[in-house]
Amino acid sequence: MRVLVTRVAAILIGLVFLQNEAKALDVQDKLELCQSCHGEHGHPEMKGVPILAGRPTQELAQQLELFRNGKRENPQMVMAKHLTDEEIQELAAYFSRQPNG
Ligand code: HEC
Repeated sequence: MRVLVTRVAAILIGLVFLQNEAKALDVQDKLELCQSCHGEHGHPEMKGVPILAGRPTQELAQQLELFRNGKRENPQMVMAKHLTDEEIQELAAYFSRQPNG
């Protein structure tokens, strides 16, 4: 019985670990998608795509929340509907850190 409990515990710890790994990859993958439109450092090459670099994290996060809950709509920003609070904060913080010049 004890062996079984130890194994189950090991599997659970492994799963939590894997889940965190997958999540980390997830944000990275999503960031790359954002960058494909908004530019690697938040300076887009495409017309009509707003500059995100150096803008306050809260401002960016707020806009992402509006896209997520459908209060602001743009077909190009549909992927915002699938972001978690954590991802919104991370992505907003990333673009906010980029030099705006
Ligand atoms: C297919 C291209 C595309 C992708 C991918 C994309 N965006 Fe956008 N994004 C846009 C466009 C176009 C707008 C302007 C929408 C509008 O004006 O209605 C926008 C608007 C925004 C805004 C609001 C900026 C402002 O000035 O109000 C934020 C913040 C933003 N995007 C962040 C992101 C993040 C973070 C991701 C990745 C999760 C992402 N975008 C993915 C094209 C894209």
